[in-house]
Amino acid sequence: MMRRIDVLKTAFVVLCLLSAATAAQQIPTKGLGLPADKKILIVYLSRTNNTKAVADIIHEKLGGKMVALELQTPYPADYHATVQQVVGENETGYLPPLKTVIDGPDQYDVVFVGFPTWDMKLPPPMKSFLHQYSFRGKTIIPFNSNGGYGPGSTFQTVRELCPQSTVLQGFSTRGGLERDGQLLAIKDARAEEVRKEVERWLRTVGIRK
Ligand SMILES: Cc1cc2nc3c(=O)[nH]c(=O)nc-3n(C[C@H](O)[C@H](O)[C@H](O)COP(=O)(O)O)c2cc1C
Repeated sequence: MMRRIDVLKTAFVVLCLLSAATAAQQIPTKGLGLPADKKILIVYLSRTNNTKAVADIIHEKLGGKMVALELQTPYPADYHATVQQVVGENETGYLPPLKTVIDGPDQYDVVFVGFPTWDMKLPPPMKSFLHQYSFRGKTIIPFNSNGGYGPGSTFQTVRELCPQSTVLQGFSTRGGLERDGQLLAIKDARAEEVRKEVERWLRTVGIRK
């Protein structure tokens, strides 16, 4: 008979293996590479153009169709009023209606989705987008810029909103900090740094060799 300690050890190993398998399923780090005939869509939300700068780099490397996400009713120009509105929308789960329409979403195999961190969460317009379009069976690749506090729960929410897609490991980098008057930060030397970070990430997720 197995000693009690051996039983515990075995149970621990089994649990570790199971949780590793689950994590691998949830966050695949390796895609299947990107054959030339795969169609790419790059959708991004950007208020002060930092996320757009990352989208531009991805586009430069891989091509595809770029789409900026716009709302029917834009957020206020004032930063604090916007933060207040976003916090309220997050509390109630309000999904702001989009002005942007994607023509023939089914034609795309790979969908990059880019967004800033807002209120440490996925911005409501990106939630609207992922609610409105089902990318079932497609590969979703998230990317993020933030004010220095990281991606928060953004990537987790993308996974939750796309249960029938393969969501690859996201890319996150520091952008601006509008609160302190720092708008577009991903430019000049910083844009070069981010270009290298993006190249490394695209290799890690198997999109580039
Ligand atoms: C409404 C709002 C909320 C924000 N909340 C956060 C936050 O919770 N954490 C963070 O690191 N940055 C936060 N930021 C800063 C942005 O994530 C950062 O400036 C980002 O680079 C902006 O991207 P964009 O230039 O593409 O709009 C916030 C910005 C705005 C406008």
